[in-house]
Amino acid sequence: MNVHGAPYRTIWVGDDGRSVHIIDQTRLPHEFVTRALNTVADAAEAIRNMRVRGAPLIGAMAAYGVCLALAEDPSDASLIQACEMLLATRPTAVNLRWALDEMKAATSALPAGDRPDAAYAKAAAVCDDDVATCEAIGDHGLSLVREAWEAAGRSRPVEILTHCNAGWLATVDWGTATAPIYKAHDAGIPVHVWVGETRPRNQGASITAWELVHHGVPHTVVVDNAGGHLMQHGRVDLCITGTDRTTAAGDVCNKIGTYPKALAARDNGVPFYVGLPHSTVDWTIRDGVRDIPIEERDGIEVTEISGRTRSGEVATVRLTPDGSAAANFAFDVTPAHLVTALITERGICEASVEGLASLYPERARHAA
Ligand code: MRU
Repeated sequence: MNVHGAPYRTIWVGDDGRSVHIIDQTRLPHEFVTRALNTVADAAEAIRNMRVRGAPLIGAMAAYGVCLALAEDPSDASLIQACEMLLATRPTAVNLRWALDEMKAATSALPAGDRPDAAYAKAAAVCDDDVATCEAIGDHGLSLVREAWEAAGRSRPVEILTHCNAGWLATVDWGTATAPIYKAHDAGIPVHVWVGETRPRNQGASITAWELVHHGVPHTVVVDNAGGHLMQHGRVDLCITGTDRTTAAGDVCNKIGTYPKALAARDNGVPFYVGLPHSTVDWTIRDGVRDIPIEERDGIEVTEISGRTRSGEVATVRLTPDGSAAANFAFDVTPAHLVTALITERGICEASVEGLASLYPERARHAA
């Protein structure tokens, strides 16, 4: 995607062939800052503190974290330690585990001296796969947006509600939930996106909105609680979100607040779609509510908020009274029965064991 007219991915290797560069997402939307990472500890810090975030990008960052570790020390101990450090950064997005497994499989059997080059090649392949996968999600999802446009008699923009940021900044490029939106916009189908702000870190208001501004997609930011109201009044044709972990039975774990939107969608007959790459399916579990670890972050993300003041500086202020406790559950689980369909790189399927098995028979055979 373009930023100020220049094409960017969210992660890339520097001219030295070793350092890894990212867009520091903690600085958006008010500043566009890139950052060079030189050690596996830098990579872990970037994931933990959400300089990079979004399930597929967390996976890509972890892959390059392994590269940085092996460039410094290609021993078995270094590989094991790097994987342990990276796996401990965030618990919910399964892409992290998937990417580390891919990196171990690509490097552990090699002589130590061959590992760094093999690791960088594999991490690049993980990133290229993510771009192709997300673009294919966009192509499949485009058909749903087109159907909604035809159903409205091509008379007005298609109204799409999304949550959090499952955009290109959450992946290597294109995004998952946003890929069909970008494809539709680029194909000349008029779309308008309702962007849920996504408290407490406001990935919708800060990051999705920033992306849509840069791609010229019409959108409106709403508070999270507005979703139900919009749907009751016929202002949403379809919802599309991303996911951090989807079970083999189609339960979807995504940013906190996704589940209430799915409930409101069901109550109002609005289709609720989830875009996801193969790397987000956890084939080892079926029951998302019981088996997906839900990240709990520091309550300070709830009690404080950051933004740009009218005089132009970025500042953080306190929202709650001193003495109030705050809990910060970062994700929730939307049961499969509330999901109209999953949009994957292999096509669109029902959110169920059978639906996922129809698209991924080779994985489903060994699934939970
Ligand atoms: O906590 P975050 O910002 O990493 O959470 C991101 C989300 O919940 C996204 O919706 C999800 O990762 C889908 S990514 C394409």
